[in-house]
Amino acid sequence: MNVPQIRNICCIGAGYVGGPTMAVIADRCPNIQVNVVDLNEARIAAWNDPDLSKLPVYEPGLDVVVARARGRNLYFSTEVDVAIAGADMVFISVNTPTKAKGLGAGQASDLRWVEACARQVAQCAKGHTIVVEKSTLPVRTAEAVDLILKAAQRQVVDGEPPISFAVLSNPEFLAEGTAIRDLESPDRVLIGGENADAIQALVEVYRQWVPHEKILLTNLWSSELSKLTANAFLAQRISSINSLAALCEVTGADVREVARAIGSDSRIGSKFLQAGPGFGGSCFQKDILNLVYLCRHFGLPEVADYWENVVALNTWQQHRISRLVVQKLFGTVTGKRLALLGFAFKADTNDTREAPAICIANDLLEEGAQLAIYDPKVDSEQIARDLQLLASSPPDAQAGPTRAALSGEGTWWTCSNVAAAVAGADAVLILTEWQQFRQLDWAALAPLMRRPAWVFDARAVVDPDAVRASGLMLWRVGDGSL
Ligand code: UDX
Ligand code: ADP
Repeated sequence: MNVPQIRNICCIGAGYVGGPTMAVIADRCPNIQVNVVDLNEARIAAWNDPDLSKLPVYEPGLDVVVARARGRNLYFSTEVDVAIAGADMVFISVNTPTKAKGLGAGQASDLRWVEACARQVAQCAKGHTIVVEKSTLPVRTAEAVDLILKAAQRQVVDGEPPISFAVLSNPEFLAEGTAIRDLESPDRVLIGGENADAIQALVEVYRQWVPHEKILLTNLWSSELSKLTANAFLAQRISSINSLAALCEVTGADVREVARAIGSDSRIGSKFLQAGPGFGGSCFQKDILNLVYLCRHFGLPEVADYWENVVALNTWQQHRISRLVVQKLFGTVTGKRLALLGFAFKADTNDTREAPAICIANDLLEEGAQLAIYDPKVDSEQIARDLQLLASSPPDAQAGPTRAALSGEGTWWTCSNVAAAVAGADAVLILTEWQQFRQLDWAALAPLMRRPAWVFDARAVVDPDAVRASGLMLWRVGDGSL
């Protein structure tokens, strides 16, 4: 074997995956220089900001890891070509969203950024370079990356050293909100590939902190497919429990009791059985739709339909919640003020990609509601991009209804705390399970609301007795006992 020793890593893409992953690699491997590069100058500037609260990704513990490694062996820059040229190993960690148009629109992944990266690596790499796919990709993407790179391979030409490549798949399983913990002590690290030396080189990077038995080796295609399958299974559990939450609500059962009862069967297990407003995040929907596209492509329509229904149920759950809010508020929310607590797709992240809050807020805006939104980590600019609607100025609590309210036009604005969002509202909707929403003082909040007033707890985080004792009506996801 001729295992190359990795001294210099380049990661293309400084997003939610590339940033935290490379920060942990740099932290755990002080002997390796890690350069994280991105075309987005503002993002790189934020990664380099001396004020660690301004990092572009909010993730508990990330600031501490970045503080230890940045400037020592962790660097963020926009100099993509230079970083590729100096690297023994290049991670591709760019975005692969669902295609918006063209062949496979709405299902297949858009691989234009991955392909652009492969071409850039082909052009700039020197010597032997191991290229690692980190982004979640459809099965057999490595083949395309490999072909592009192979076309650039060459023997010694005019005294210039040879150029060669090896391609590996190393999908990332971190979940946002727990990324640092997941990276520091992963359940497993998956490495797929054919080139034994390249595989061993990557194993030796992870071996600096991951126990040997947690590093799983597969062929390239199994590795790519395992990532899609893991996300599909996790998402399927959420759709399963959400489907039963709806049944619990009409039968007098409580989905948390059902989840506890089935979760204590060791064959089923207790994780990922929390009913909620539906799954969000950049991975689940995208990966399932990818799987659906692949199944159709390979002539397996029944398999495609099976998985597609996991997404269909998730979309239904989101609309079900907005419909239910309208129904409980006497069939109309036009001109009514509603407090939305939480906009991120889950707690402990500032990421809003595919957040259920987007769909629910859009439905309510369509009905003419006035939304007062509070999220501890998501800013107003992000919400405006997600809702494709500019924020309105917050109405004066003392003045009467605004013109927009009377005309039936939906509007929204952000608030800097829960009390400001709740003031004057007919209902509170809890859409993200931030810790602080578990400890709300309902006795203090209730008098701020217009009666009769509702709490719609889509994450089941409130204390039902405290809410009802303060004179508010309560709906809790999956709770038919209310
Ligand atoms: C997921 C996978 O967990 C991770 O392995 C992969 O690398 C990327 O996709 P992520 O999307 O960051 O991670 O978060 P995750 O914790 O999986 O939650 C996804 C969504 O499911 C969130 O909207 C969350 O609120 C929801 N969820 C999760 C539930 O509604 N109920 C649950 O029991 C668990
Ligand atoms: P993920 O959640 O997979 O990390 P993000 O969208 O958060 O996805 O991050 C992907 C990053 O990749 C973005 O910051 C984007 O600017 C960057 N990117 C995409 N294409 C390229 C490229 N060809 N070169 C450098 N950076 C790129």
